[in-house]
Amino acid sequence: MLACPHTGGVEIRLEGGNTGGAVRVGDTVRRAAGPWTPAVHALLAHLAGKGFAGSPRPLGLDLQGREVLTFLVGETVGSTRPWPGWVHADDTLLQVARWLRSFHGAVADFVPPSEAVWRMGGQWAPGLIVGHNDAAPYNAVWSDGRLAGFFDWDMAGPVSPAWDVAYAAFSWVPLHARHVVAQEGFTDFAGRPRRLRLFLAGYGWAGSLPAFLEVVTARIQAHVTSLRDLATRDPLFARIVAQGGADDLETAIAELEHIAQSPPGM
Ligand SMILES: Nc1ncnc2c1ncn2[C@@H]1O[C@H](COP(=O)(O)OP(=O)(O)O)[C@@H](O)[C@H]1O
Ligand SMILES: [Mg+2]
Repeated sequence: MLACPHTGGVEIRLEGGNTGGAVRVGDTVRRAAGPWTPAVHALLAHLAGKGFAGSPRPLGLDLQGREVLTFLVGETVGSTRPWPGWVHADDTLLQVARWLRSFHGAVADFVPPSEAVWRMGGQWAPGLIVGHNDAAPYNAVWSDGRLAGFFDWDMAGPVSPAWDVAYAAFSWVPLHARHVVAQEGFTDFAGRPRRLRLFLAGYGWAGSLPAFLEVVTARIQAHVTSLRDLATRDPLFARIVAQGGADDLETAIAELEHIAQSPPGM
């Protein structure tokens, strides 16, 4: 705990995070800014203007050049493993699906500034949305038995809505490799096809299940490719790859084939 000479406030290091981490100062959060921060703040300001409650409000930069955001009150998984029970409850899965549907509704008419720089995703074009792209349990806030929203919008960027749904389903059903999700406390492997259908119904996915699993496979394959590429020049990603992060995702892709073959009703 430190008293910050610029803010005058007490800085409390927040538990969790894999990239830059965050500190709390009063009702605000401070995080390292990047070239993508102005675009992310334009997105968060748009969501605020829509009255969307499930994301932090952007409050600019502080004197140290860090981004300032409102603190979302509630429980986060931080660095605890296994994850708390609410992460894997069916009702949470439905709440995440509905949050995503509501976010996609609120972001649908967001046209990013032409000079927008995103950390993930390419150039925006009509038909794309700016997705969260990392709406996983480690970026969620849980309050009074409800999903309060998601923080860590660093990965936001132009994608198809399906691309964003794919990563959320991967994270929450969950569809990651068995040995990875087992460490996180998930054991209901036979229930995965059922949970995937529940998630897609909650979101209102109009396509077929096999078509969706193809998007998940493409999304995770792209993740592997970018991880391996980033690892060649960034020590953080080099560490993630060295610890098996990319191999685990490839295992997950292989396991997805079993889920795709499971009969409806499971
Ligand atoms: N807006 C926010 N509201 C509440 N907690 C937050 C907020 N942003 C970050 N946190 C907290 O800070 C921790 C690390 O945050 P995160 O921004 O996800 O770091 P990283 O970029 O390293 O993943 C989270 O586990 C969470 O507890
Ligand atoms: Mg995070």
